[in-house]
Amino acid sequence: MENIIPHNHSVKYQDRLKALSYVPKVIWFTGLSGSGKSTLSDELEKILFEKGYGTYLLDGDNIRSGLNKDLDFSDQGRVENIRRLGELCKLFLDAGVLVLTAFISPFASDRQVVKEAVGASNFIEIFVDCPLEICEQRDVKGLYAKARRGEIPNFTGISSPFEEPINPNIRIKSGEYSIEECLEQLKTEILPSIVK
Ligand code: ADX
Repeated sequence: MENIIPHNHSVKYQDRLKALSYVPKVIWFTGLSGSGKSTLSDELEKILFEKGYGTYLLDGDNIRSGLNKDLDFSDQGRVENIRRLGELCKLFLDAGVLVLTAFISPFASDRQVVKEAVGASNFIEIFVDCPLEICEQRDVKGLYAKARRGEIPNFTGISSPFEEPINPNIRIKSGEYSIEECLEQLKTEILPSIVK
């Protein structure tokens, strides 16, 4: 950008890394509303936090109540939502934090942008793979019913697309397995890459 000259900070990521007992990563949950992203990321954060790791959880509804409250659910709104979050993740990662995210993030190209922004080796994509019928049946927030009544435009899975990850790092079948079983899978597949 014109007239912007980034400063090269003296304390580097590599310096911070040496002081940590874990390897910071971005643990990115993607899936339909009601698939279990918030629940699983919350439970996983508890496990990692209790190990003494520096963690932080970013969740769609929370971020959209603050930082991103100016954005809607149009395609452009979602693209900008995820772009900002990618930048936020990059900063958290640089600060040495294990960041977990729970966003629908329906577009494959946006998830790819985040992956490239933070570096592929730092990015763990978790597809919380729960069929629409089950999410809609559960309808914890009552949003699917509203969307079916036409009261919520551009609702993911109903009137707005969700592009399933083709090759996620981890696929969680949250419609078939219990929360405990899903967490076991997450621990088994994630811990080896973050324990030093
Ligand atoms: S994303 O598509 O831009 O990644 P994000 O994860 O931030 O979405 O927000 C999703 C949450 O917003 C849902 O869990 C739901 O509670 C709420 N929401 C409100 N309107 C919509 C909508 N049109 N589509 C999907 N989720 C919506």
